[in-house]
Amino acid sequence: MKYLRMNNGLTIPVLGTGTNTFGKENNDFNGKITYNTKELRSAIELGYRLIDTAIMYRNEAVIGKAVKESNIDRSEFFITSKIPGEKEFVETNESVASHVEQSLKTLDMDYIDLYLIHFPLETNEDNLRVWRVLESFVDRGLIKSIGVSNFNEDQLSYLIKHANIKPVLNQFQSYPGKHQLSLIDFCKANDIIPEAYQSLAKLDAKTKDKLIELSKPYKKSWSQIILNYQINQGLVVIPKSHSKQHQFLNIDVFDFTLTNKDIKTIKNMNCD
Ligand SMILES: NC(=O)c1ccc[n+]([C@@H]2O[C@H](COP(=O)([O-])OP(=O)(O)OC[C@H]3O[C@@H](n4cnc5c(N)ncnc54)[C@H](OP(=O)(O)O)[C@@H]3O)[C@@H](O)[C@H]2O)c1
Repeated sequence: MKYLRMNNGLTIPVLGTGTNTFGKENNDFNGKITYNTKELRSAIELGYRLIDTAIMYRNEAVIGKAVKESNIDRSEFFITSKIPGEKEFVETNESVASHVEQSLKTLDMDYIDLYLIHFPLETNEDNLRVWRVLESFVDRGLIKSIGVSNFNEDQLSYLIKHANIKPVLNQFQSYPGKHQLSLIDFCKANDIIPEAYQSLAKLDAKTKDKLIELSKPYKKSWSQIILNYQINQGLVVIPKSHSKQHQFLNIDVFDFTLTNKDIKTIKNMNCD
C-alpha cells in the first residue's frame, strides 16, 4: 500500500474501502443493519486498511466488529467517520460533541483516525462552529485528524482562514465525466488531500466503453484504470464492492503506469 502525508504530518493510505451499504439487508443503503461483516472481512483479508464510514451509514458498529474480528492491531487501520451537517446533529456544540462521542462508542474505539463534516452547513460561520468542536476532540487525542466532505472552494477558504487546525482532506464526488479538476487543484494548492468518492458508480456507459478500450493494452479492467489514474493524480480513493473479485481488482492497481497520452485522455473525459 502507498501512503500520503497529510498536512499534520500523519499518513493516510491512498486506497481504502467505502462501506455505505455494508452490513445491511439486501446491500441496500436504507436496509436494516445485519451486523454481517463478511464484505469487510474479505476487504481486510485482501489488504484494505482504510475504512470509510459515517454516522449516516448507521454501520459504525459493523466496522468496529470487523476490525476486532480481524485480530489485526487497531493501529494498522485508518478509520474515517463523518458527522452529518443536519440540524439534529449539529444544532448546538453539545449535540456535535455528543454525536462524536457516540461515534467513538459505536465503533468501540479509543480514537478515530479521521473525522469529517459530511456535508457543509448553511453558512461558513456554522461550519466553523462545528469545526471548533472537532478541533477540541483532536486536542484531547480522541480524533487524530479532521477534514471535510462536499466542501467547495469558498467553504474551504473560509475554514482555512479561521481554523486553528487546518482540514487535512476534502472528500468529494470525482470520476471520469466529473473530475472536479478545479476543486482538486485548489485542494492540492492548499495542502489538503482530495479524496474521491463514487469513482466507479457514476460513470456513464459511453465513458465506460472508452475506458474499456483504453484498458486493453494494460490487461487491466476499466475500474483499475480509473483508480490508478486517480491515485496518480494525488487523490485518495475509496471504491466499495460487495464482491470479493471486485475488491481484489480494486486493490490491485499499483503495478502499472498509464502513458501520458492515456492520462490526458482520461483527464479530458470531463464535463465540468
Ligand atoms: N462523502 C459523501 O458524501 C459520500 C457520498 C457517497 C459515497 N461516499 C463513500 O464513498 C464510497 C464509494 O462510493 P459508492 O459506494 O457510492 O460507489 P463506488 O465505490 O464508486 O461504486 C460502487 C459500485 O461499483 C461496483 N463496483 C465496484 N468495484 C467494481 C469493479 N471492479 N467492477 C465492476 N463494478 C464494480 C459495485 O458493485 P459490486 O458490489 O457488485 O462490486 C457498486 O455497485 C461509499 O461506500 C462511501 O463510503 C461518500
